[in-house]
Amino acid sequence: MQGFIDIHCHCLPDLDDGPEDMEQAIALCRALVEDGIETVVATPHMFNSFSDATDIQIVLHVVDQLRVRLQTEGVTLNLLPGAEVTLNDQIFDLLKRGQLPTLNQGQFLLLEIPSSLYMDITTILEKLNDHGIRCILAHPERWGYLKKNWAVLDRWTKLGVGFQISASSLLTGAGWFGRMKSPAWQFVEKGYATVIASDAHDIQDRRPRMRQAYRILAKRIGTARALQLCIHNPQCLIRKDRLSEHRNSVNGESLG
Ligand SMILES: [Fe+2]
Repeated sequence: MQGFIDIHCHCLPDLDDGPEDMEQAIALCRALVEDGIETVVATPHMFNSFSDATDIQIVLHVVDQLRVRLQTEGVTLNLLPGAEVTLNDQIFDLLKRGQLPTLNQGQFLLLEIPSSLYMDITTILEKLNDHGIRCILAHPERWGYLKKNWAVLDRWTKLGVGFQISASSLLTGAGWFGRMKSPAWQFVEKGYATVIASDAHDIQDRRPRMRQAYRILAKRIGTARALQLCIHNPQCLIRKDRLSEHRNSVNGESLG
């Protein structure tokens, strides 16, 4: 089986609440490889309180540094640039300047929106669409307001939005993260989930758990759907060319 493609991971050193230094970053990258991941998009937080990266140029520079070290250390991992961008008023300015930190500098933006406060982002999504940018919304299983308002997902899905569920949310957990399990499975079983990603931050509490998530997905929804969520769809999201021929997992609707 081809390795997993992880489009959401905090594996760059000293940019956010991920690894504190290069050694921790290498340890996390080793753990990603051991977890069956062959390609990872480095997605440091951008524009939230954890973030030191405010510019794609910083991300590109650190990705280059980490690639060199991974090669020296013999860690075979395809490392690509990206960011987890918190919704903010600078997005359109970055877009205008060609500096929007999309996944692998393609057309998909990993966007994080508030989890406890409902915001109607339809206008923003439409405006990004007009510029050829499609949003993948990060870990929507955290959104508390969804319990009563799944209809909003249909509205956003029609705009080509995808939903990224975190692998760890599908697994048994305790505390705040444990509460994500039920909504995460609803995303999968209702057919809204587009992609599963690790959202790994370290090799302890927030370690990569893609293999475990894939196995339980394959058991519950079948191998074909599990492969789509963990390999085929993320493969589409890191392509740099137009994606009109590719398909989202949401009811077979085209992403393009
Ligand atoms: Fe994240």
